[in-house]
Amino acid sequence: MSISLMPLPYARDALAPAISADTLDTHHGKHHKAYVDKTNAAIADGPLADASLEEIVARSRGSNQGLFNNAAQTWNHGFYWASLAPAPSRPQGDLAAAIERSFGGLDQLTQELATRGADHFASGWVWLASNNGALSVEETHDAETLADAGPVPLLVIDLWEHAYYLDRKNVRPDYLEAVLDHVLNWDFAAENLARGRRWTYPA
Ligand code: FE2
Repeated sequence: MSISLMPLPYARDALAPAISADTLDTHHGKHHKAYVDKTNAAIADGPLADASLEEIVARSRGSNQGLFNNAAQTWNHGFYWASLAPAPSRPQGDLAAAIERSFGGLDQLTQELATRGADHFASGWVWLASNNGALSVEETHDAETLADAGPVPLLVIDLWEHAYYLDRKNVRPDYLEAVLDHVLNWDFAAENLARGRRWTYPA
């Protein structure tokens, strides 16, 4: 078994103008694919050859930084594609109530994601996460992930320059504003909250 390149769950031009087809082609077809290919090359014929991606992330953490980086980036990108959607949605039900309890409302949460995402130094990820229903905004650096440790991730936004440079040059706040206002998949966040366990990367 090898790790697959998770297909985009929408057409390549479906997130435009927030994220262009050109950016998705490169980000998914080159960057994500390279992480998948390097993960598969590293596990081939070894003890993790038949492991799930989550197992590879957990077992390489702290012991094989090269494999961890590629496996965690593979997982993070799959979770990121699922965190985006072409049709605008709004938090409903239990998710809306949890946002209200933890942040005071959606506007406050959106503001915190925008600020923390913009201020995050260099490459990484900004997450909405849940610890038994208490929601928080988390940041991870480089390939670091919530795939196997920490609070349960509900949504993520990629902060690496390759996520926005073709569309926005160096202006990360414009990318964050476009994503936060137009293409965040709140239904996916609600599913992750209801499940209470981490999302798993499709085999
Ligand atoms: Fe990325």
